Amino acid sequence: MDQPVCAQKSPFKLTLEAGKDYWWCACGRSAKQPFCDGSHKVCGIAPLKFSVPKTADYWLCGCKATAKPPFCDGRHKTL
Ligand code: FES
Ligand code: FES
Repeated sequence: MDQPVCAQKSPFKLTLEAGKDYWWCACGRSAKQPFCDGSHKVCGIAPLKFSVPKTADYWLCGCKATAKPPFCDGRHKTL
C-alpha cells in the first residue's frame, strides 16, 4: 500500500452539518479535498467515514499526517 500524500500543508475550514455522513480523503489524492473522490483506488488507502455531533465550523486535515483524523491536530506545522 502506498503512503498518503500531502494535499496541502494546512487544514480545510468547513461548516459541517450534524448527523450527515462525510468521507474524508485519507490518501491525499482526491481532487475534491478534503473529501474522497475515489482516487484512492490506485493506492489502496481507504477514506474515513465520519459525522459530527453538531453543525459548526471544523478544521479538517489537509496534510494527511494528523494523528486525529479527520481533524487537524497541528502536525502540519512540522512538515
Ligand atoms: Fe483519497 Fe478516496 S480519494 S481516500
Ligand atoms: Fe494536517 Fe493540520 S492539516 S495536521
